Amino acid sequence: MDESALKIKKVHHVEFYVGNAKQADYYYRQAFGFGRIAYAGLETGWRDRASYALAQGKAMVVMTSPLMPDGEVGEHIKRHGDGVRDIVLEVEDAEAAFELAVSRGAEPAAEPREIKDGHGAIKRSTVKVYGDTLHSFISLGSYRGPFLPGFTESKEPGRGAGLLALDHYVANVTLGEMRKWEEWYVRVLGLERFMTFEDKDISTEFTALNSVVMANGSKSLKFPINEPAPGRRKSQVEEYNDFYRSPGVQHIALLTADIIRTVSQLRANGVEFLRVPDAYYHALPERVGEITEAIGTLKDLGILVDKDDQGYLLQIFTRPVEDRPTLFFEIIQRKGCQGFGKGNFKALFEAIEREQDRRGNLV
Ligand code: FE2
Repeated sequence: MDESALKIKKVHHVEFYVGNAKQADYYYRQAFGFGRIAYAGLETGWRDRASYALAQGKAMVVMTSPLMPDGEVGEHIKRHGDGVRDIVLEVEDAEAAFELAVSRGAEPAAEPREIKDGHGAIKRSTVKVYGDTLHSFISLGSYRGPFLPGFTESKEPGRGAGLLALDHYVANVTLGEMRKWEEWYVRVLGLERFMTFEDKDISTEFTALNSVVMANGSKSLKFPINEPAPGRRKSQVEEYNDFYRSPGVQHIALLTADIIRTVSQLRANGVEFLRVPDAYYHALPERVGEITEAIGTLKDLGILVDKDDQGYLLQIFTRPVEDRPTLFFEIIQRKGCQGFGKGNFKALFEAIEREQDRRGNLV
């Protein structure tokens, strides 16, 4: 497996299709602490959509809304509600990456094309992945604009929450499809299976799921894939698929170097997080051993801890950020541990089930 073949440098940004990008821009600045860097819309010559580009640390996201009901943005929102449309990969050459991906069986969504403005030109191409989700390839060449061609500089500060980067992007797919997409990431993008979690690792009294984590050699790209497993009640992955109306991105993890500061700020900003029972914290010292953070502080903020032989991680999960129980965020701080919080799955999934039950979906 040679991930260098597509020459993926990084995830450049994640594009969300949302019902009201102007309000999403405000929410992600005021609640999550992003700052706006650029804008595109009617004023910049776009007739069918408006987009706000936001950044915090190295993490970049774009919020896009349609200006008309017809077209792919409007259709996407009608079916899925707000959600992730495109995890955009920066590559050395978007044309070569596309040709290679398609030759390996990827379904094309947009042929390679040059996009330019007064600041220079980029190349962009797009392939389809699970559900209506896309991976675009972009190569920036010597482009010098504030974001991408078509965007104008538009600086609006956010509150800042100490978020540094995007850490991982989790797909929810339908029963029996996990292996298909695992195989896709190996064959098309040249990633490898980094971790596997089976339903015996990820089950509660009522529900279960399977998960694999696809990653590149340096682990700078991490794409976990979940599928529901048979259980007594409806899995959280099925609840997601029912409301998203297809497979899609379940959560995006945002990296911080100071989770106590970040979560304190996000809570003060009104971000809603899941809570686990106090018993979780009683059992914590025995489970994870010595950690720097005070257990009482972690408990007050609802932060979870897990460890492996390399170190430990701290993590917390938001409630869905839409009315549909679909996309949510994870905040993660890694102290040596490259895992995903396996030791927290049971407590976390029981917390999700309580929410699912309140929504009438734990049936
Ligand atoms: Fe995660």
